[in-house]
Amino acid sequence: MEKYLYGIDFGTTNSALAIYDEETKEINSTIIIPSLIYFYHQPGVGNTPNYVVGEEAISAYLNDDMKGRFIKSVKQILSRSSFTETRIQNKRYNASDLVAIILKELKQRADELIGQDCRKAVIGRPVFFDDDDVQKDTLAQTRLTKAAAIAGFEEVCFQFEPIGAAFAYEKTLAKKENVLVADLGGGTTDFTYLVLDPQKVGSKDRKNDMIANGGIYIGGDSLDSAFMWEKGTPYFGKHTQYEATPGKVLTVPKSLFVNICSWEQMNFFNGPRIKKDIEDYYYFSRNDRKFKNLITLIDNNLGYSVFQAIEKTKIELSNTDTSAFSYHKMDIDIEEEITLPVYEEIIAKDVNRIASYLDQFMLQNNIDPKNIDSLFLTGGTSMVGSIQKLFKNRFPHVNLNSGDNFKSVAKGLAYSGYLFGD
Ligand SMILES: Nc1ncnc2c1ncn2[C@@H]1O[C@H](COP(=O)(O)OP(=O)(O)OP(=O)(O)O)[C@@H](O)[C@H]1O
Ligand SMILES: [Mg+2]
Repeated sequence: MEKYLYGIDFGTTNSALAIYDEETKEINSTIIIPSLIYFYHQPGVGNTPNYVVGEEAISAYLNDDMKGRFIKSVKQILSRSSFTETRIQNKRYNASDLVAIILKELKQRADELIGQDCRKAVIGRPVFFDDDDVQKDTLAQTRLTKAAAIAGFEEVCFQFEPIGAAFAYEKTLAKKENVLVADLGGGTTDFTYLVLDPQKVGSKDRKNDMIANGGIYIGGDSLDSAFMWEKGTPYFGKHTQYEATPGKVLTVPKSLFVNICSWEQMNFFNGPRIKKDIEDYYYFSRNDRKFKNLITLIDNNLGYSVFQAIEKTKIELSNTDTSAFSYHKMDIDIEEEITLPVYEEIIAKDVNRIASYLDQFMLQNNIDPKNIDSLFLTGGTSMVGSIQKLFKNRFPHVNLNSGDNFKSVAKGLAYSGYLFGD
């Protein structure tokens, strides 16, 4: 038996690895990195990799004047059949190659800590990678399996992320409980209803304890997109008017702004045709100042930094009633006070979609709220006030618990070694 096992939570925004000592049955330490890769503008010399991963990716990207390729939310391409590969400095990278870069980084950092080459891991996966599509789901799981192999793992099992979260919570319990776990991350929200029993931690017969699980493809990224649409795009010319033909004034197409509301969509602007269209709108809008901001955003690759400002506002509003949406780069100047009620209105549609999904989940699985002993919330998005209110309103009499929002899944995965059998 190997002495160590890694629990790996490969997340849309953050990825974590928990080191589990199979002899002492304890977690030694947990590593967490943002799921970001930056490929330098200049190719690497000799065999040195030309990329950096995690926290460093942000500073490298900024120091490089944002000229290289910055890759965020790579988890979301796992299920996308239209993505086959991307070329970076004449090298081809498919989805597994990109994911492997992050897994390898985690593995190297952990291997260094234990002084061994650990090749055994329980890797988490969301309940659905992409809504309810079985084909896409299979594709994502296959790609993730390949990524693990590329990163150097030989013995790999998969566990649903919310079950991982539940197992971390189980360690803290004194008695058996029926628990509803909600893991609200960057890309997905997953629910699991299960029986937790501290006496069963690590045991092999857990199948019957899992009563139901399900998920929806909404998370913190969706909230940021909604914010960008409502509060960001007006600064980039969403309401700009231009003279389409002499005397005929129209508003520029909304579709341009849909594309700046999510990070991955920004590539859309790379085509020559769209660039020409944008220049034409600018010209026929008589050089509208706000529309110019859109051109500055695209030409200078500023998407990530705008989303950083949006995320900062959101995080502040998890603790305060008002926060400034503030962005000043190049000629772009945004300064707007956002109050909590205004923010809650912006994200209401997404929160309601989560609420409807939860209702449907309860109904379909015949879960009676009276039978739930406690609720366990985890993931970064569980800190959003409207999300907490949603759970308090739905289950007023149930205990609301939360653990370490960023590490609990990885820890629980590390407690899932039973999946390997004997
Ligand atoms: N204090 C906070 N308030 C609100 N949202 C937050 C806070 N801190 C982090 N977030 C958001 O939480 C999300 C990241 O959470 P987490 O690390 O749990 O996701 P993930 O595991 O990477 O994603 P997924 O599980 O969907 O793959 C991001 O959208 C981030 O903006
Ligand atoms: Mg997660």
